[in-house]
Amino acid sequence: MAIRTVRQEPDEALHKRCKEVKEVTPRIRELVADMIETMHEANGVGLAAPQVGILKRVFVVDTTGEDAFCCINPEILSEEGEQTGYEGCLSLPGYSGKVTRAMKVKIRALNAEGEPFEMEAEELVARAILHEYDHLEGIMYTEKMICELVRNEDLTEEDFEEE
Ligand code: NI
Repeated sequence: MAIRTVRQEPDEALHKRCKEVKEVTPRIRELVADMIETMHEANGVGLAAPQVGILKRVFVVDTTGEDAFCCINPEILSEEGEQTGYEGCLSLPGYSGKVTRAMKVKIRALNAEGEPFEMEAEELVARAILHEYDHLEGIMYTEKMICELVRNEDLTEEDFEEE
């Protein structure tokens, strides 16, 4: 495994639609393992392949530091409810912006073994999945913000209250 360099805005890899993975090869499994290591090292809750310069439909999520999972060729099956809150991105370190996303999401994807699975997630995990899914479409959260970009040091506890 290896730590990969996380592309920073305005890198063009962050603004392109990613391609489907045709086959889950050892090379894809290595990418997934590297992305999980890179996400953990950066204390992120998610990372998408274009953020490490690979324009393929792969992302990893881990909101606790102990529950990493990967989604290859993910499809969003349904979204339900709404949550509005601040989120950030490893490709724009030090900043956050307020984005409204679904409260619950159901997805289908392939795991690192190439096997299909479905999962339902809510709250922070749902937010992370939808944020990472957007990366595969070339969309940064800053394009969906409903406020100005805020420096993390300017956020207060009030900013994290439920809305
Ligand atoms: Ni991101």
